[in-house]
Amino acid sequence: MKRDTDRESPLVITDLKKAFRTGFFKTRKINAVQGLSFSLEKGEIFGLLGPNGAGKTTTLKMVTGLIFPDAGSVSVFGKPASTVSSRRKMGFLPENPWFYDYLTAREFLTMAAGIFSIDRKVAKERIETLLNQLGIAHAADLPMRKYSKGMLQRAGLAQALINDPDLVIMDEPLSGLDPIGRRELREIILALKKRGKTVLFSSHILSDVEEICDRVAIVARGKVREIGTIDSLLNMGISGAELEVKGDEEAILTLAGELGLSTTRSMTGYRVGLPSNTRIQEILGRFMEAGIQILELKRHRHSLESIFVERSEKAQEEA
Ligand SMILES: Nc1ncnc2c1ncn2[C@@H]1O[C@H](COP(=O)(O)OP(=O)(O)OP(=O)(O)O)[C@@H](O)[C@H]1O
Ligand SMILES: [Mg+2]
Repeated sequence: MKRDTDRESPLVITDLKKAFRTGFFKTRKINAVQGLSFSLEKGEIFGLLGPNGAGKTTTLKMVTGLIFPDAGSVSVFGKPASTVSSRRKMGFLPENPWFYDYLTAREFLTMAAGIFSIDRKVAKERIETLLNQLGIAHAADLPMRKYSKGMLQRAGLAQALINDPDLVIMDEPLSGLDPIGRRELREIILALKKRGKTVLFSSHILSDVEEICDRVAIVARGKVREIGTIDSLLNMGISGAELEVKGDEEAILTLAGELGLSTTRSMTGYRVGLPSNTRIQEILGRFMEAGIQILELKRHRHSLESIFVERSEKAQEEA
């Protein structure tokens, strides 16, 4: 018989809403999350992207039960997120992990294991494994005030993994790390996926997201504005391709004119624009027949950054 955990989605978020009241008389209302929905598939790495103030942290806090939603629901492996059994299946690395300066990583992790009532012997072994896996074993008995940002992030992640969670949630795990630290953390995230874990994390660092995420959601002003695999987002509404050619100028211009294609002069020859509805094979054939050299064929692709910026600006305008 399959266990529930095998069947149920690791996380289903439905129409989540959260407003904050601020100001002295609590009269100012900030709609941080306003009807946000998405769900995760088992074993995927999912990236939550969005500009500052988009509602990412608020969403992750509601998922991990740190704050309560005003409306909507969160279910973790088929159970409401607020239940103890759900909490046990989740690990959370907060945005600005706050540690006890005078505790060592080993003490900090022992305390975290205590919170989950993990058997002492099991905890001891698991802490050793995590310290090694995350590359902080050498500093395990040093007070954490002596840690670098990267080491703190690793200690925070070790804490998030102490209960061997099936769903690992991280708020901006890559920010503040140098390129080496980021690469190492990316490897750690990929290793979690290899072990069948589901990973949800928020980020601003688009290149990292592009490299390791199976799917992403772009969040702006408290709503999901775009969701899908990186490939599907980048190929969305693709607008044709561009051909870089070299050869007899007149031949190029005549042929392009005949085929109704636009041309612009480039460093080496000409760039020929190919609209998305043209038959590329046929056009390539015609250029080659005319003895024109083809230097490059480039598909126009959106960048994750352009989609990010465009969706964020659109959400801003709508507001
Ligand atoms: N406790 C709070 N009280 C009042 N307003 C809040 C509170 N927490 C968040 N907000 C507001 O809610 C909105 C969403 O904030 P949130 O921290 O979720 O965004 P974010 O996407 O995580 O941004 P960042 O990328 O900067 O971390 C912001 O306008 C923020 O100022
Ligand atoms: Mg945040």
